[in-house]
Amino acid sequence: MELGATLTQHVLSQQRLHPQARGEFSGLLTQIGVAAKIISSQVRRAGLLPILGASGTVNTHGEVVQKLDEVANRTVIECLIRSGHVAAMASEEEDEYVEVPEARRGAYIVVFDPLDGSSNIDVNISIGTIFAVYRQASGGEVTRRDFLRPGREACAAGYVIYGSSTMFVYSTGHGVHGFTLDPSAGEFFLSHADIKIPNQASCLSLNESNSPYWEPWVGRFVGEMKARNDEDKRRVSSRHVGSLVADFHRNLMYGGVFLYPGDRRSPRGKLRLIYEAAPLAFIAAQAGGAASDGAQDILDIVPDELHQRTPLVIGNAAEVRLAEEFARGRGEDGMVSATTAVERGSA
Ligand code: AHG
Ligand code: MN
Ligand code: MN
Repeated sequence: MELGATLTQHVLSQQRLHPQARGEFSGLLTQIGVAAKIISSQVRRAGLLPILGASGTVNTHGEVVQKLDEVANRTVIECLIRSGHVAAMASEEEDEYVEVPEARRGAYIVVFDPLDGSSNIDVNISIGTIFAVYRQASGGEVTRRDFLRPGREACAAGYVIYGSSTMFVYSTGHGVHGFTLDPSAGEFFLSHADIKIPNQASCLSLNESNSPYWEPWVGRFVGEMKARNDEDKRRVSSRHVGSLVADFHRNLMYGGVFLYPGDRRSPRGKLRLIYEAAPLAFIAAQAGGAASDGAQDILDIVPDELHQRTPLVIGNAAEVRLAEEFARGRGEDGMVSATTAVERGSA
């Protein structure tokens, strides 16, 4: 079998698409790959090392921090500082943004969720790391404004999934590319070039036990999706892991829509805009999909706070737009149902 390009080779080839690039950005992305390998090696031995379970602390969101959350957070921070290309970073596990000491300071801002899917760590279900990279806007001193940027301004975004294999998926705005870690070689090799989300949304992913708290449109949208199944064919299947990265990745490969809407208990939903929703929205858009908070594109939202939450609908563009229509109030009279049935050619 012919070997694919390594992540480093690929990042360098993407750099050639930006004539003004001086290699710093490539060095930075490669270093995120190093962090991914270190975290992967820890995750793969999680039951053997004393790193399972809660750390005994609670994070800025009031959530229990797992030991692996801390390991992953420290790993990403150290690798980014070492790259010499980062000015400051924001993490789900840090209350405030972290500035890089002067001697190692570079030009980029990185935001990340070091380990996504904490509740799945101890039970051997896929978890991940999510990140996005921005050029420092202010140039001089790092300010909060460097972080409060719409996802559209990112120069790169991606995620790592620690699943049946470890994959690194990223985009610099020129398509989405996936790399699989060969653990014995210690390298990521290109395995999924130019990923595009399939046309049909066959997966429907959301935590349905939240239905007592949903706004009515969510139930109507779910009903609309399920109504695509008839005697002839099951077109849609319910698939929900509970790790955003894993749910997103599956839907990216198979086609599907993931929802974590706002509800009565948490009006702004659960997921965080800057380091969860926006990076995945960047990937979705590059793969031909879309992401919305129900009213607007996730990539257009200008955050007010570092740890701001956002409702999220992400996946196939048609289904994301349909969810927006339901959220706006259409669908109450069956109009949307009729329209989409015609569009599908099944009416
Ligand atoms: P994290 O582990 O980084 O805090 O994120 C967990 C998130 C996300 O991965 C997942 O989609 C969601 O929590 C699941 O939440 P519910 O348990 O409320 O469904
Ligand atoms: Mn997360
Ligand atoms: Mn996390």
